[in-house]
Amino acid sequence: MASLSLISPAAAAARQRPAPRSPAAARPLPLLPFLRGGGGGGAAVAVAARAYRVTVEHEGEKRTMEVEEGETILERALEEGMEVPHDCKLGVCMTCPARLLSGAVDQSEGMLSDDVIDRGYALLCVSYPRSDCAIRVIPEEELLSLQLATAND
Ligand code: FES
Repeated sequence: MASLSLISPAAAAARQRPAPRSPAAARPLPLLPFLRGGGGGGAAVAVAARAYRVTVEHEGEKRTMEVEEGETILERALEEGMEVPHDCKLGVCMTCPARLLSGAVDQSEGMLSDDVIDRGYALLCVSYPRSDCAIRVIPEEELLSLQLATAND
């Protein structure tokens, strides 16, 4: 049985060709400055890191800095030249206690109990900002006594 074609031979030929590209589509897309990779010949795959404005208070000094999402507040504060207390940098020794005055941090890598975190305490070495925030370094004893009290609950 013969099949019927409902389109003309010219239309059928046009369907075989790729659709014409507009002049804008023919040009390569310009790379945004933060996406331009260096060397290697590979594709530039870089994503701009999100950064937050974090104000750190310590011994009467108050400094605001840009802290990237994947960077701890302790790392940035030390880079900025602040002499904030620290030791293990692993969220274990509790030498870098702080009070979160505003904003939010992710400190899920640290050893603080949820009760203590809920009361606004943080460890600088495992605090990754999740919003603009303000944080004050506090005496170690303040956090230790609270942590021990909640550990007995
Ligand atoms: S430096 Fe040890 S807990 Fe932060």
